[in-house]
Amino acid sequence: MSTLNPDDGERQEVASTRRTGRALIVAIHAASRVMKLYPPEHQTVQKSLTDLAAAALESSGVDAQLEVRIHGEFIFVNGTRLRLDLSNYASFGRVLELFRASGVGVLRVLREAAPREWFSLLTLLATLGSVAEADADELARRLQAAGVDAFEVAADAEAEEDIEEREAAKAAARRTYAQSVALTKDVINSVRMGRVPSARKIKRAVQTIVDQVLTEEASLIGLTTLREYDEYTYTHSVNVCIFSVALGKRIGMSKLQLYELGMGALMHDIGKSRVPTDVIQKSTPLDEDDWRRITAHPWLGMLTLFQLRGQQELPYRAMIVAHEHHMRRDYSGYPKVIRPRQMSMTSKLVAVADAYDAATTRRSYQTKPYPPSAVLQEMRDNPLRGLDPVVVKAFITLLGIYPSGTLVVLDTFELAVVLAANVNPEMLSRPRVVIVSDGRGNLLQPPIESDLAATGPDGQFARTIIKTADPERYGIRVSDYII
Ligand SMILES: [Fe+2]
Ligand SMILES: [Fe+2]
Repeated sequence: MSTLNPDDGERQEVASTRRTGRALIVAIHAASRVMKLYPPEHQTVQKSLTDLAAAALESSGVDAQLEVRIHGEFIFVNGTRLRLDLSNYASFGRVLELFRASGVGVLRVLREAAPREWFSLLTLLATLGSVAEADADELARRLQAAGVDAFEVAADAEAEEDIEEREAAKAAARRTYAQSVALTKDVINSVRMGRVPSARKIKRAVQTIVDQVLTEEASLIGLTTLREYDEYTYTHSVNVCIFSVALGKRIGMSKLQLYELGMGALMHDIGKSRVPTDVIQKSTPLDEDDWRRITAHPWLGMLTLFQLRGQQELPYRAMIVAHEHHMRRDYSGYPKVIRPRQMSMTSKLVAVADAYDAATTRRSYQTKPYPPSAVLQEMRDNPLRGLDPVVVKAFITLLGIYPSGTLVVLDTFELAVVLAANVNPEMLSRPRVVIVSDGRGNLLQPPIESDLAATGPDGQFARTIIKTADPERYGIRVSDYII
């Protein structure tokens, strides 16, 4: 004797929604395709619209209401996620594109809609899709103006929530960054005036950076591209701290180790505060005397950290980093090493972060900063840099081949600014970007975010980076797009 499963009825309902839902999507695609090919009065168009109206009615619930929702790569009809199969693959992709291009996340059909009304909706969707600032509100306004009241359209609420969350994370990162720069300024200036800075304040700043890197790494790394020319002395230390901590996290350091690493990174150049400013900021080549003063900063830094006020325990690791960060792997750097020694891991990490930030920043004697991707390549390939190759490799995995802030040309001839590396290490050349101009060089208002690892319905990548470009040549301020 067979028993009746109470789930059976529900399952059947889901299956039927899926079947009619798929037919609806195929009908939307078919109608929008023939509308492109024939005039509205053509019988093929008329037939496809009648079919569409019928498919919509078929998909509607008992109350004649129908909801089509787009979220990510999925289409939901009356709350049921549609499944793809080979026969409707292309239709799904086109319909997703059609809705997305005009910013529509939800389409509600409030009553039985006539073929004429479907015609208006599809025409407006197609026209709005080619307008850069199109959104669901605009579509709603135009529907109303056209006297079509069978539909209700809205943006994807969840996607908007995601955006809000990301904006909040970005704001927190900006706060952390600004506070850290202010603190570093304070510390450097008090050392310059012969005062001893407070260890407690520095620790607190380092903790904020570490906590932020642990929760929302990408936003903070994005901010390191904001290299203000005259603030270099301060932003450099903060950037080196952010890069080092993110790198330490990648190689699996504990939170406590990250605090110590962060402290070493933030204070690595503190010895420079004891070198006369005119030597530090000199734009002409350094003479022997200047060089001697500059190369004293590692041990001057160590001494400064030795004196930190309010320190229960001396920051040994930070002292070692200050001392070792210019030694290089083969100890050909400075200060010179007399006895054999083993450079600490903390110093190796900071040396890589330091080299990267210094080379990508515009400074008084460096009129043009190198593109980030070229810097990474040079750090990897030039042994004279004396960086640890394993650490450099981890750093490239962290930043991607095209680090945040790089301007790139895509195979669509669009220009884009890199926002963040792809978390998947196999997709290092496919970061998240913001497209700033179309294929003909027109600036996009607003710019469009795109994940280069995303594939279209055909399984192909929609966009691929061909090369990097010089932002100045195109008059683009990359930082405008990042923060
Ligand atoms: Fe240094
Ligand atoms: Fe440095």
